[in-house]
Amino acid sequence: MARDHYSNPRVNKSPEQRKREKDEKYWDYWDELVKASVYRDTREIPALMEAAQLKGKHVVDAGCGPGRLILPLVRSVETITAIDENNWAINAVQDLIKEKRLKDKVQTIQSPLVSIPVDDGVSESTYCMGVIHYDKSRWEKIVKELIRITAPGSPVVIGFGSGEKDLPKLEEIGKLDHALKCKEFALHFHKWAQEQGWKVELKRIPLQLEFRSPEWAAEVFLNTFLPKKMNPVQLNEVKAFLYAHMKGDKCVIEQELLLFTLRAEDE
Ligand SMILES: C[S@@+](CC[C@H](N)C(=O)[O-])C[C@H]1O[C@@H](n2cnc3c(N)ncnc32)[C@H](O)[C@@H]1O
Repeated sequence: MARDHYSNPRVNKSPEQRKREKDEKYWDYWDELVKASVYRDTREIPALMEAAQLKGKHVVDAGCGPGRLILPLVRSVETITAIDENNWAINAVQDLIKEKRLKDKVQTIQSPLVSIPVDDGVSESTYCMGVIHYDKSRWEKIVKELIRITAPGSPVVIGFGSGEKDLPKLEEIGKLDHALKCKEFALHFHKWAQEQGWKVELKRIPLQLEFRSPEWAAEVFLNTFLPKKMNPVQLNEVKAFLYAHMKGDKCVIEQELLLFTLRAEDE
């Protein structure tokens, strides 16, 4: 259950402490989203395993966050290098490494993805899930950097939402501009990747988020995808949307994951 990190007043807190608390709160609710997703064991992980051909490889998890994908994948791969620019996320992965005794299998690098401190072609397979749409100003550089660190001909898998289905419609209530840009981005990315001369494959993976109640879904979304501050009309719209998505006794929200596999051959 997510904790309330904001029970103390903001006074007397350093900017670093406030940032840490914000990160922790966001990731607590992100964890609830992961638990809410029935796709985790069924769709997303096998699709990623297949697209990135991860089995037995030295792989890079680019923009790893606190390590959501590490445990489901670590037994299948040889090693994982988990990279993120966020200090809190890297600390969380290091705690996971200690807790699960993964020091021979997983290493961390704290770095922005536009400039990763590793040699060309060292990764046998690289994946970057739910990251690049966050960083529109830098995404082209990020993808080129992921291609650089990956062996020629090996897969670089980039995953993000298609901008279709329920979740983006929910986002449109609170941040229409963002939701529309995500939809445009999905189209633009495909064209751009083909123009780079890479081999590009696209798979669409249907995902479902299943919540025990619409109220709980509202709380999780209001602390993750939706803006914190919404007016009463928007809040009512969110509630109505979630009530309209009851299936039996569960609130079910659909999403579509795009998995792009990019391969750059030697020149
Ligand atoms: C939504 S999370 C996804 C985490 C993980 N890939 C997953 O699927 O659970 C996005 C992560 O990407 C990281 N990130 C975003 N832009 C980045 C950049 N330019 N360089 C490094 N990390 C970045 C953020 O710090 C965050 O941890």
